[in-house]
Amino acid sequence: ESDMLVDSFGRFHNYLRISLTERCNLRCQYCMPADGVELTPSPQILTSAEIFRLAELFVSSGVDKIRLTGGEPTIRKDIEEICLQLSGLKGLKTLAMSTNGLVLAKKLQKLKECGLGALNISLDTLVPAKFEFMTRRKGHERVIESINAALEYGFNPVKVNCVVMRGINDDEIYDFAELTRAKPINVRFIEFMPFDGNVWNIKKLVPYAEILDKVKQRYEGVTRLSDRLTDTAKNFTIDGHQGTISFITSMTEHFCAGCNRLRLMADGNLKVCLFGPAEVSLRDPLRAGVDEVGLKEIIGNAIKRKKAAHAGMFDLAKTANRPMGFIHFGFSEV
Ligand code: GTP
Ligand code: 5AD
Ligand code: SF4
Repeated sequence: ESDMLVDSFGRFHNYLRISLTERCNLRCQYCMPADGVELTPSPQILTSAEIFRLAELFVSSGVDKIRLTGGEPTIRKDIEEICLQLSGLKGLKTLAMSTNGLVLAKKLQKLKECGLGALNISLDTLVPAKFEFMTRRKGHERVIESINAALEYGFNPVKVNCVVMRGINDDEIYDFAELTRAKPINVRFIEFMPFDGNVWNIKKLVPYAEILDKVKQRYEGVTRLSDRLTDTAKNFTIDGHQGTISFITSMTEHFCAGCNRLRLMADGNLKVCLFGPAEVSLRDPLRAGVDEVGLKEIIGNAIKRKKAAHAGMFDLAKTANRPMGFIHFGFSEV
């Protein structure tokens, strides 16, 4: 553990999310505009060697979990090499990935061999036609295949991320909960967050309490599990179900007090919080030959500028931010 990773509120940051690309093979409405997405020119995107160098620096300072995100991480050509290098870092306990599952099934065996240990797959609807509407692309069947492949390869739990939007998929809460009946799936209902270009609207936000009510109306024995301070999810079991359900309540009950996350963006910027302060480039000093001590100082200073919490949902809606796509898919942050 090193002081570099501790912020001015005493939070220790042992969880690094690395965005491997800003590109995505879907155009989810809640994440990206339909077109006109401006991408960073590829020479300014971190190479696998640069990602490894920076990751090494974080892990040697105490980071023990890395999550690969995007854009869509699986479309990066050197994804296997990146997994292999990162999973070999001494001190790393978990190498995880958040993916839309579109092209995952056929890559999964290799990725697992390269050390990928945990998977979160986004799926917002169980209705194929609605998938096409929500993502502006085809591919529902392939995502389902990827979820099944993840189960077959023994990922446990397989986390399924479902962003709930009123009038769009809030009629499917029960169907999603049913996914957990006979499989070790953790369905995570996520409150819709505002990002640039995703036309956030409070009317589309379905608060956690409302979703939980719906679940409780259908099932006996919905029990809250205790969670760790650093969890973004509130977790519940349903009697008789093999899997679990969770809620990510970024908007109605933020979890900033336990935040342990940092984000390395595809362009090499370090983002210490989804909602500010400004990002700091690590790519530029790295390419200018700044040594390890210098880089650690830049990182430590950025972390010390992290704020206690985000400003609350009404201010968030006004804050300019990168789309989530550009964090996961490239997006931003809570
Ligand atoms: P686990 O490590 O499995 O807990 O995954 P995760 O929830 O951290 O990551 P994932 O990529 O699956 O993101 C799921 C949702 O978590 C996103 O849609 C966000 O709503 C939320 N999320 C992830 N990181 C943050 C964060 O730093 N702050 C806030 N407020 N929300 C976050
Ligand atoms: N609000 C909440 N979650 C979002 N994600 C992308 N955009 C948003 C948003 N506006 C989710 C994706 C993915 C995770 C990394 O972030 O669905 O599951
Ligand atoms: Fe952490 Fe900032 Fe997100 Fe709060 S808003 S959970 S402090 S990253």
